[in-house]
Amino acid sequence: MIVTTKKLFEAAYGKYAIGAYNINNLEQTMGLFRGNLDSQAPFIIQISKGARSYTHKLMLEGLIRSAEDVFPDAIFAVHLDHGDEQSCYDCVDSGFYSSVMIDASHEDFDTNIAITRRIVDYAHAKGVVVEAELGQLGGVEEHVSVSESDAKLTNPAQALEFVERSGCDSLAVAIGTSHGAYKFAGSQALRLDVLAEIQKALPGFPLVMHGSSSVPQEEVERINQAGGKIKGAKGVDASQFKRAAQLGVTKVNIDTDGRLVWTRVHREHFLDHPENFDMRPPGKVFMAEYAKFIADKNEKLGSAGQLEAVRKILVSAS
Ligand code: 13P
Repeated sequence: MIVTTKKLFEAAYGKYAIGAYNINNLEQTMGLFRGNLDSQAPFIIQISKGARSYTHKLMLEGLIRSAEDVFPDAIFAVHLDHGDEQSCYDCVDSGFYSSVMIDASHEDFDTNIAITRRIVDYAHAKGVVVEAELGQLGGVEEHVSVSESDAKLTNPAQALEFVERSGCDSLAVAIGTSHGAYKFAGSQALRLDVLAEIQKALPGFPLVMHGSSSVPQEEVERINQAGGKIKGAKGVDASQFKRAAQLGVTKVNIDTDGRLVWTRVHREHFLDHPENFDMRPPGKVFMAEYAKFIADKNEKLGSAGQLEAVRKILVSAS
């Protein structure tokens, strides 16, 4: 069942966070649905602009619609990750996405609000909810000076005005994470103090943490032992997810960790079976490993075991 992220956030707020997983292909789709059902968790499928153009934007839509038939018990939202204006309009018009993210965080404050407001008005008229971003991730670890890096974090003093004027349904906040496998290269850690300030400014409002892969060291080591060259990779301490959830984080974005699982499985498979030239044997291993990875992540987020409670809320509201 496809629902809006708003419905999922109402059930989760203050108690647990929902995993938002980026997918690109069939094997990830299968592993994602299996892992979430194995752990009895509601979830969010994230489709990025890059994923939409990897083959054709309708391909992933077709896969997910099929997965909905194959796994009728699943409860999930379909979300555009890091959309620009045009991709947001396109996804809203598709009638398939239940949620879009407009990322105008690189713009100045007023322009970010104006762009977000346009998307909110358009999306809400069609029953689609909107995530916006205030503050900026990415490259945070490349900033040496504390004041410069602080300038990238979400300013709690601007949060209420941003939400009121833009009308967004959830807010992605920059609290020290960054996208990719190389986080916290300096001395930075997750800024839960900043998060607490944002929650104070926006009590009860759903917050989103981007750049939240953990980049498990054993995964990186296995990749490197099988011929990879990933050096100095570092991620978010997953034991902090539950604290972040108490501070208002309802959605945690994870992409890189899934890519690492894919890389490890395929590197190890072809190292162990150099004679193989069939994509299905590693594909099967990947689907099982990805499902395991998702179920484990949901335990850390606290969303594992929440599926039936969410279903009850949805049924009683309908
Ligand atoms: P990671 O690169 O940490 O997985 O973050 C993904 C993300 O935030 C997608 O929006």
